[in-house]
This record gives sequence, C-alpha cells and structure tokens, in this order.
Amino acid sequence: MGEIGKIVQAPEDLVAPVNVPAEAYISPDYARAEVDRLWRKVWLQAGRLEDIPEVGDYITFDIVHDSVIIVRASAQEIRAFHNVCPHRGRKLVDVPAGKRNARGTRKNFICGYHGWTFGLDGANTYVEHQEDWQGHLCGGLADLGTVRVDTWGGWIWINLDAEAGPLAEYLNPAAAMLDPYGLENMRPRWRKWVIFECNWKVAMEAFCETYHVSTTHPEFMDFGQFRGWARNQGLHSNIGYDAPKGQEEDSGKLRLGTGEDPRATTAEMQNFTWANANTNTTMTLVSVANRLKDELPEGTPAADVSKYWLQTARAEDEARGVVWAQVDPAHTAQAGTAWQIFPNFQIGHAVNNMLCYQARPYGTDPDKCIFEAAVYELWPEGEAPATEWEYTEPQDWPPVLQQDFANMAAVQQGMKNVGFRGGQPNPYMERSVASLHMNLARFMGTGAPRTY
Ligand code: FES
Ligand SMILES: [Fe+2]
Repeated sequence: MGEIGKIVQAPEDLVAPVNVPAEAYISPDYARAEVDRLWRKVWLQAGRLEDIPEVGDYITFDIVHDSVIIVRASAQEIRAFHNVCPHRGRKLVDVPAGKRNARGTRKNFICGYHGWTFGLDGANTYVEHQEDWQGHLCGGLADLGTVRVDTWGGWIWINLDAEAGPLAEYLNPAAAMLDPYGLENMRPRWRKWVIFECNWKVAMEAFCETYHVSTTHPEFMDFGQFRGWARNQGLHSNIGYDAPKGQEEDSGKLRLGTGEDPRATTAEMQNFTWANANTNTTMTLVSVANRLKDELPEGTPAADVSKYWLQTARAEDEARGVVWAQVDPAHTAQAGTAWQIFPNFQIGHAVNNMLCYQARPYGTDPDKCIFEAAVYELWPEGEAPATEWEYTEPQDWPPVLQQDFANMAAVQQGMKNVGFRGGQPNPYMERSVASLHMNLARFMGTGAPRTY
C-alpha cells in the first residue's frame, strides 16, 4: 500500500482507489458540525407536491434542529417558512407523536402559546395587545421567516441558506438526466420510515452500489449478473448495470432474467422481486412476465423476450390509462438505475416506477438516523392510493431490505473498532461512496477520501 494522505484534487473521475476515513460516520464532533456546514447549506428533498394539492395544505420537514413548514399558499405557489413563532420561539406546528412529519390544511397558523397568527404568506395577521410593543413589531419582525423553496421532479426542495444558488444549478446534471422519466407523474404505492442504529451515510451507502448484491442478496444471482458501475457526477453520482456479454446495457432496471430460458427466469425474477422487495417492478410487469412461457415459443432469443415483455406490458398499461415515459435506449444506458442526489437522497428511476431512499440524522447522534423509503409508480388518473408515511420496525420491511439492514448497524459498530483502517470502496462499483465523501469534505472541511 502506498502513502495515504494526499487529498483528491481532480474530482470528476475518482477512478483511482481511495481510503475513506471513519470520522464522517462516527465522530460526534463531525455530526454536530454537519448542522451548520452541511444541512444548513444544501438543497434538501422535503416532500412531494401531491401531499399539498389544495391551497392551505401543508407539511413539515425536519432536519436535525431545524423544522420547516411547507404550504400551498395559492394554486400556483408553494411557500416555506421556519417552523418557529417569532414571538418567543415556540415551534409553531407540532409533529404529532409517532409521526414522521405534520400534515394538514389550514387557513392560517395560530401559535398555541400566545395566539400570534400568520397567513399562508407567512405575514403576521394578529398580535394580542400589539400596542404594548410601541410600534416596534414592524419590518417583518412579527412575520414568519421565509425559507428558500423550489420544485423539481414532483418533489419540494428547501434550502436553509438564503444565499444558496438555484436548485436547477444544484441538481445539475441529475435533473436533466432524469427529466425524460417523468418522475413528477408518479405517485407512491408505499412509504415507510424507521429510526435506525447507524449513521445516515451508512444507510445511504447500503443502496448506492451493486457490489453488495451477490453476497447480501444471493437469491438474485439465480437471475443474472448484477455487476454495475458507479460514476461521479459533480455533486452527485449514479449507478447502473454492466451490459451482459455482447449486449448494450440499455434496459435500466427493467431487466430480463438470464439463463437457458429467459421466459422462465424473467418470470421467476419478477415474482421474487415483487414478493421480497415489493419495488423495482409493477403488477403489470409481473403478470406479463408470468405469461411469457405461454405466449412465446421455446427458444425465443433473449432480446426478443425482453422486447415482447416490455412492449406488451407497456400496451396493457396504456389501455388502462397508464402511459410510461419513452426513453431512448442510449439515454437509459447513461442514466443507469439510480442517482444519488447529494447529500442524502437516492432516486432509483425507471420509465414506470421508482424507488427512493432518504436518510437524515437523528439529532446529532452519529450512530442513529431516520431512514425512509418510498416506492412510486404510475396510476390511472385519480386512482393513486392515499398513502402516509408508516413507521415500520426493521423486521416488518420487505425481506430484501432487511438483508440490507442486516449490514447497516454492523457497519456502524465495525467502523468504531480501533483496528478499522478506513473504508476502501471499489473504485469501479462503489465510486459513489468516494464521490459522497469527496463532496462532503468540500462542505465539512474534513474527511476527504485519501489517495494511496
Ligand atoms: S411564542 Fe408564539 S405567540 Fe408566543
Ligand atoms: Fe441491497
């Protein structure tokens, strides 16, 4: 092993192996410093637009000490405010016990302590005995503090830094790569959250690479090869599968099972995925896969099985008013299967469904996080189910996710071991890990991956 210590300077490729110090995962000082240096500086995915369809609908979003109220102020306008009363600092909207966030509808926000009242535009509309302040409650001093808010992909994004650059710039190039998938048209099928015993980075990194698939999810090895790449994309990163020998990788997440009879293995993989992950596919794809054996002759080449499966499922969905995005195969190959949006959000996209993960710190404890996953798909107009965030104990998550969970707490423990010499992510398959830490170090001023 060569000399460790040089900071990576040319970030865009990160092709060389690096060592990732454990500090970012386990240090209480680092976790406390994240509040000011990271969480109060970056754009954060804070909710979905469909959660606040009508004027007066609101949700809250918490990130460590900070809480934000996001409200539909008018048909066209979403606004965000610091969730704190400017009178004496009461949190204005409480999160009900056991809930991930508050959600409701109001004409205005009334503080429960002394009754100061605020309109949907954040302006104060009522202060009891206002004259006692002798005219000094002016110039916005009695109004709610505003928070930067913008939208992309059907999500609401907030930034606690009033000086931050625009969201569109921040999301580059992820947004442009994901726009063709029409993610804003998808609605959740389920969404779960849990407080977990690991750092938020450990949780996100359990899903940002394909290197773990063969060992952590050995059942999938019956269905094909899951070796995949990871690329650094500025602040963000993405991952995708390598093409099977002699083929272009242009199918993204909607992949065929391999083996002697792809008609059979595709059905097996689809049934397994639906039953054990409950994501990354849809009921339409599963049911068409189950008919491949009846509808295609034995010996149909894999490429034709794939084409028939996807075209038939697309047509059947279209007939019930569910229109998949059209994405050019060359684009699919570049877009891969998932994007890690810096710092704590992952979008696993496809033309007809997506799986998203987010992890946030639980207070400033480096050993705990709030982990959540939401699974989306396309629905006929008006038929999307009403879902809520369901607190779900680890043993009640889909089995494939439990396999990932089994590593997460153990990684957190292992990284504290005096004998741990820092992470050594695979430079090809786990470059997303190096990318995260390289970018984190820009905000944090510490913890950069070290070259050998
Ligand atoms: S703290 Fe809100 S009205 Fe007093
Ligand atoms: Fe996994």
